Amino acid sequence: MLRLREVHAGYGATPILFGVSLEVRQGEAVALLGKNGMGKTTLMKTAMGFLRPWRGTIEFDGQSLIGLRPHEIARRGVGLVPENRRIFPGLTVRENLELGLSAVRGRSSTLRRERLGQVFDHFPRLRERLDQPGKTLSGGEQQMLAIARVMMAGARIILMDEPTQGLAPAMVRHIREMITELKRLGVTVLLVEQNARMALNVCDRGYIMEKGAIVFEGPAHELRESAITREKLGV
Ligand SMILES: Nc1ncnc2c1ncn2[C@@H]1O[C@H](COP(=O)(O)OP(=O)(O)OP(=O)(O)O)[C@@H](O)[C@H]1O
Ligand SMILES: [Mg+2]
Repeated sequence: MLRLREVHAGYGATPILFGVSLEVRQGEAVALLGKNGMGKTTLMKTAMGFLRPWRGTIEFDGQSLIGLRPHEIARRGVGLVPENRRIFPGLTVRENLELGLSAVRGRSSTLRRERLGQVFDHFPRLRERLDQPGKTLSGGEQQMLAIARVMMAGARIILMDEPTQGLAPAMVRHIREMITELKRLGVTVLLVEQNARMALNVCDRGYIMEKGAIVFEGPAHELRESAITREKLGV
């Protein structure tokens, strides 16, 4: 569904990604693991069109994403839940959700109701807080809102960048259940996580990144057992 081949990218003249190849198939949850500063966020930003790759190809549903702007990529069904869950702090929960929908071409009130219903089924807490400013939500609730926003946009694949960062164990469990639930709904997930154990429990496959390159890939159970995982991640 999403396929990167030999992608090179960086900031200014500084290379960060050195020929990354990675694939996420329809319906899969795939973990992208690696220590700090290895290029995981850069890879997601490149896939989402915030950075233009220097070389290589990026395809979604068999069509190239190269040169498309982030909102065009979003419109095709790719959703990014960025690091530090960037919601709009001054806007209410309702307004944040509406912004997700605003990416959709030809949106109707029926679609709006349908998507909101779906979001509230998953996150009843958000319904209770519709008129509350985003900044007053707890960390876990902000994460829910960030995910709900890409659901509103109708994302078919969600790129999640460290969704459990700074959250209490109960909320980590909640996020984990949510990813399982997204999978059940047919949403495909690429998950960047520091919590490798959680990621490998919820995902089907995983990749390990080191210094801008993929150094290991395999089924989640293999990564769970592998000495390479311990060595590369220090867990
Ligand atoms: N906007 C930027 N300009 C220049 N260099 C950057 C920029 N953003 C990130 N980098 C550098 O790119 C490298 C990879 O960063 P990236 O954020 O992709 O790593 P990461 O794997 O997501 O790390 P973490 O686990 O800490 O989030 C780092 O050396 C970082 O300093
Ligand atoms: Mg990062």
